[in-house]
Amino acid sequence: MNVLVIGSGGREHALCWKLAQSKDINKLYCTPGNGGISDVAECHDITGTDISGLMDFSRNMRIDLVVVGPENPLAAGIVDAFQKKGIPIFGPVARGAAIEASKIFSKQLMKESSIPTAPFQVFDDYGKARACIEARQTPFVIKADGLCAGKGAYVIKDMAEAGSVLKELMVNGIYGDAGRKVIIEDFLPGIEASYLAFADGNTIVPMPASQDHKPLLDDDLGPNTGGMGAYTPIPFINDDLDREIRETIMLRTIEAMRDQGIPYKGVLYGGLMFSGGKPYVIEFNARFGDPETQPIIFKMKSDLLPVLVACVEGKLNNIEEITWKDGVSVCVVLTSGGYPENPEKGKIIRGLDKLAGREDVMVFHAGTKKANSQYTTSGGRVLGVTAIGPTYENAIKKVYEAVAMIEFEGMFYRKDIGRKALIAG
Ligand code: AMP
Ligand code: GLY
Repeated sequence: MNVLVIGSGGREHALCWKLAQSKDINKLYCTPGNGGISDVAECHDITGTDISGLMDFSRNMRIDLVVVGPENPLAAGIVDAFQKKGIPIFGPVARGAAIEASKIFSKQLMKESSIPTAPFQVFDDYGKARACIEARQTPFVIKADGLCAGKGAYVIKDMAEAGSVLKELMVNGIYGDAGRKVIIEDFLPGIEASYLAFADGNTIVPMPASQDHKPLLDDDLGPNTGGMGAYTPIPFINDDLDREIRETIMLRTIEAMRDQGIPYKGVLYGGLMFSGGKPYVIEFNARFGDPETQPIIFKMKSDLLPVLVACVEGKLNNIEEITWKDGVSVCVVLTSGGYPENPEKGKIIRGLDKLAGREDVMVFHAGTKKANSQYTTSGGRVLGVTAIGPTYENAIKKVYEAVAMIEFEGMFYRKDIGRKALIAG
């Protein structure tokens, strides 16, 4: 098969790395890709929202399957457009991607289907939203309805902050239309986890649960980022809890969408909060997570390509059981100096050759470029160093030993990825 992966991050490198090993791959392409992806796929400079450019490319290259990484093309209807032209594509249609692109749609769906989530109110009127926050006690959460590149949720700890957040979103329009409508919801204390599942419109097959580390600094301090590291599995999610999440959250969501005439195919990503031992949905994403995909895919034993095809064809029930390597997989993200506000670019990356060819360590590239066999930095999140080992201790030790072999000017990373699993275990 000829396969095209759309995207340029660590998530897409992990997908390309895995797909390149598939026995059914003829030719693998990625648009636009990155320095590391160019080692396993042919990269072409087309952006994810250039739907007609991607369609022409897919026709010219006789693409048999398109795999969409990021949310923006999904929300813009790339899947609907490709389906109309009969080109198989992995990902939900725009009405399905609304589970991520509209928090109001997502929360209302959860409410109607009794899917556990924080109690909430919806506002499109600034005066009414202000009255709501004035009547509330902190903490609570304000969320923009639309896509804000992961920055649209504000956990409010003091009232002055609440007032300025509402004004910025609803009056000053810092995220345009995406922030004109807001959700105000109860704060749920607890532990977070990411629960990703393959979906074919009717049924789901879960991946092992994982945990992201969104804040920039150790001990979850500092500003939120795209994600500073992730690991899988999660020690406290036992078989009973896993079944509860699968049935009362993930499957119920797919069925609720199906009942509304939305065949949800692709990955459904539940951002969960375990509060008082019970799972609640904080948000849904309509795609693979980044960086969660890096440790999850590194742990996957089965061939990924037939699973993606089965989702598109609505035949997940027909595939063999997906198998996963034993043990723990941990990914530490290395970022550029100045990330997340003003990441530096163009720095030479050294040490990658020392890790090449390792079975138990893989460096997934995000913001990198390759020219004359030399990798340089080109974005905020640069690399996702990923290691697998029999225990949390072993995998964490191994990943940080690998990190120590890499250097570039301004390189920064969290030193505590996976520590929560050690404490919990
Ligand atoms: P979101 O963009 O919806 O995933 O929210 C970003 C982050 O804000 C989450 O990862 C949580 O840490 C936090 N958050 C969002 N909603 C809530 C909530 N209802 N209770 C507690 N924390 C929340
Ligand atoms: N890891 C967070 C996300 O993919 O949205």
